[in-house]
Amino acid sequence: MRRADKSDWPEIVKISLEAFGASSWPWERWRPVLAPVAEAPSPTWALVAEAPRGTETGAAPPLAGFLVLQIVPGELEIQALAVANAWRRRGWGTRLLEAACQRGRAAGCESALLEVRRSNLAAQEFYRHRGFEIYALRPGYYHSPVEDALLMRKPL
Ligand SMILES: CC(C)(COP(=O)(O)OP(=O)(O)OC[C@H]1O[C@@H](n2cnc3c(N)ncnc32)[C@H](O)[C@@H]1OP(=O)(O)O)[C@@H](O)C(=O)NCCC(=O)NCCS
Repeated sequence: MRRADKSDWPEIVKISLEAFGASSWPWERWRPVLAPVAEAPSPTWALVAEAPRGTETGAAPPLAGFLVLQIVPGELEIQALAVANAWRRRGWGTRLLEAACQRGRAAGCESALLEVRRSNLAAQEFYRHRGFEIYALRPGYYHSPVEDALLMRKPL
């Protein structure tokens, strides 16, 4: 588990397209997230989980998944979380989420927040089992396709 940088972009795109299809973020949205801390100390950055070495061919270890987080005073916002299809239901999503929550606690955040598509029952189930509860609905929040967002929160 480590902070992501620009070199992770090709693997992140693959996972993102698999998970989010047409609503994947464009490079412009990723650019500040993957920028070096010294160049752009953005409060939004990403964690990546490296899959164990030797489990795939190729020079660089493939990524199991990524999580984008933003820390604002008192709150940790999970902006995106995705695990590659091949690595799902093996605990990677849980580990990424826990790593983000640890960073939030260390920064003094009292709660973790996120939005999830109303139709994304698998993710809602995932978050509910990890202590998140729905507290609001944001109509028409998502695009490609347009859909309501459920807002979920967990005390840290
Ligand atoms: C949601 C997601 C991140 C979970 O990652 P993961 O690595 O598979 O999750 P873990 O292995 O840590 O946890 C699996 C648990 O999550 C829940 N879960 C995951 N997928 C599920 C599904 N399709 N249906 C029901 N529950 C599911 C279950 O509680 C499951 O536990 P179980 O395997 O013991 O039944 C992954 O499915 C994913 O990338 N989905 C597409 C992108 C997405 O929806 N992101 C979240 C919205 S931003």
